[in-house]
Amino acid sequence: MRQFIYYSRTAPTSGGKIKEDLQKAGRLDIAIHTVIAAFFLSHKIRTDVKLHLVFAGPPDPCKHLELKPVTEGETGVDKIYINKSNISTIIKKMLYKYREGIKHEVFPGFWIEKKSLLQLVSELQKENKELYILDAKGEDIRSLDIKPNPVFILGDHVGLPDKELRRIKSIAIPVSIGKETYFASQTVAIVNNELDRRQL
Ligand SMILES: C[S@@+](CC[C@H](N)C(=O)[O-])C[C@H]1O[C@@H](n2cnc3c(N)ncnc32)[C@H](O)[C@@H]1O
Repeated sequence: MRQFIYYSRTAPTSGGKIKEDLQKAGRLDIAIHTVIAAFFLSHKIRTDVKLHLVFAGPPDPCKHLELKPVTEGETGVDKIYINKSNISTIIKKMLYKYREGIKHEVFPGFWIEKKSLLQLVSELQKENKELYILDAKGEDIRSLDIKPNPVFILGDHVGLPDKELRRIKSIAIPVSIGKETYFASQTVAIVNNELDRRQL
């Protein structure tokens, strides 16, 4: 399974902060586009992807939302209905249902807990996952040896904060998808495509 970690320094950490205008809600629009790029194919939801969203905006950072949508079974019982237009509602409900001290499964395959980006990354490192940081100055993805079950880490519209960037660069392989600066969601789509082509 491939995993992505999207970090947002501004995305809200409480459901009450999510209003109609998702751009004004701490650029939640970027996180939603990233969810779409991570999971949605034409007529199909990917079952080989886990997406971690780490939100560091107000009022109660950091929240780790882990998404691995269930696709089998009865909707409303074994799985939830997810489409391109209800992702903000799902995220809002997840934030509302956060429970202090636990990793709470709000819907089948959708968990929320309090956790920072560096805590999450070091947990995955301890699980011996191969970590890659998406960075325009890294090695070209086309020539990169990608190990099975890779984890790709990417930043928001500003990139990753300096402290997190330094630590992650010391343990992750920098990988570039080209010289242009892409949207976070475009980056995820391109990596997904590369892994699909390699059948990883
Ligand atoms: C909109 S970009 C951030 C732009 C920000 N000014 C920066 O320099 O990091 C969002 C994220 O997408 C990833 N990204 C964008 N372009 C990339 C590229 N050409 N190669 C690899 N990763 C890229 C990076 O992880 C970046 O943090």
